[in-house]
Amino acid sequence: MGNLIILGAQWGDEGKGKLVDVLAKRFDIVVRYQGGHNAGHTVFIGEKKFVLKLIPTGILRPGKLAVIGNGLVIDPAALLSEIDMLTAEGIEVSGRLFLSNRAHVLLPVHRTMEKVFEARRPIGTTSRGIGPCYEDKTARRGIRMAELLDRDGFRAKYDALMAEKMAIGAALGVNEYADVAAIREQYEAFAERIKPMVCDTAMLLRRAMRDGKAVMFEGAQGTLLDIDHGTYPFVTSSSASAGGACTGAGVPPTSIGSVVGVAKAYITRVGGGPFPTEALDGAGERIRQRGNEFGSVTGRPRRCGWFDIPLTLYSAAVNGIDTLVITKLDVLDEFDNVPVCVAYRRGGAEVRDIPATIAEMEQLEPVYECLPGWKASIFGMTSYDQLPARAKEYLAFLESRAGVEIGCISTGPERSQTIIKPGSHFEKLLG
Ligand code: GDP
Ligand code: IMO
Ligand code: MG
Repeated sequence: MGNLIILGAQWGDEGKGKLVDVLAKRFDIVVRYQGGHNAGHTVFIGEKKFVLKLIPTGILRPGKLAVIGNGLVIDPAALLSEIDMLTAEGIEVSGRLFLSNRAHVLLPVHRTMEKVFEARRPIGTTSRGIGPCYEDKTARRGIRMAELLDRDGFRAKYDALMAEKMAIGAALGVNEYADVAAIREQYEAFAERIKPMVCDTAMLLRRAMRDGKAVMFEGAQGTLLDIDHGTYPFVTSSSASAGGACTGAGVPPTSIGSVVGVAKAYITRVGGGPFPTEALDGAGERIRQRGNEFGSVTGRPRRCGWFDIPLTLYSAAVNGIDTLVITKLDVLDEFDNVPVCVAYRRGGAEVRDIPATIAEMEQLEPVYECLPGWKASIFGMTSYDQLPARAKEYLAFLESRAGVEIGCISTGPERSQTIIKPGSHFEKLLG
């Protein structure tokens, strides 16, 4: 089994968590390479629901190792509460979860700063402090896990950072900071609990690969939320696309065998920003209700729209996607017709490249082709042959226009509600 990246091909919430869980049994290690607890990856095991935010989904498979790579920002409080949740569910975490000594530490002040900046320039963030923590990382003033563990070093770095934050806050009219010393002490206590899990995870991964272990990289967010390749500035602050797996885990590009892109049979986004195929009519609301499109982290209603071929082509190109997984096909079961955006126009002319500015993105006029709905329940189907002819035609249409093989189709939230396409590259990949 080669090493594989699973990532979101859209604006997040594509069903990555479910897919990673389905595939995790074939891998030895599952690694998160970017983001933080802004992610919400849902997995159903029978009736039991898990929402993982920071810990790789692979933790749910007994015996597998889970790694939080250097590319993440870690809120220790969020991490520890997730560990407690898993432990309470009878999932053994100890000895199976490793945190990078180079990952950055997210502090309460990052949430404070986010509130300030959201009030000035709203993005519609998850309010977890993710952006400001990455800001500190890039500005070379952040605190890494290794420094959190060094008590004296942490104290000095933290106090200096807080002095700066308070000066910036004062200039912006913010004066409500949590008790600086109390937070420091709280983090010192977190450090004691976290210590046994912290190591050089990049080295751990490279050694494991050398020893023939199979590694899966679990993307969070999605390509269109990537800091470089997404709909900037309405993006997250990390590299969610395939390149991020190498920098965020510390492994060479040549170690990656395959890139799997997960896309819904339609598309959603949470928060602000351009969305060419957004269905602002009743259809969007129908998708939201049928697909239960409410954020797994913030509970916000997700904006819903139609599958977008130009964006899929872009995502496939940015990531080198060799297999597309289509999730939530069952959500479209009752539609008479299913529009698919096949191209964009602006002022009468076809637009081939995805524009780099929001102003241009907002001028795009989607060109739709309407496919007939299958009007039958495919919920829970496990074999490709069971699918109605029109559902197969819909998939074949997406595949031919996107130019990427669809190797897997998800027909429900549960692990077992999954179709592996017979004869696909993906089937061979899984052995
Ligand atoms: P992620 O962030 O990419 O892991 O996706 P989320 O977990 O945030 O959102 C996907 C939602 O859709 C979750 O509630 C899943 O349980 C659910 N889901 C995943 N695949 C399917 C599917 O094929 N059909 C249906 N109906 N729900 C699905
Ligand atoms: P998963 O991994 C969907 C969105 C937020 C906001 C923007 C920036 O579950 O797919 P941030 O808090 O990251 O600075 O917010 O990114 N966003 C997500 N949308 N799924 C996610 O994660 C997201 N993580 C962040 O809604 O628009
Ligand atoms: Mg999610």
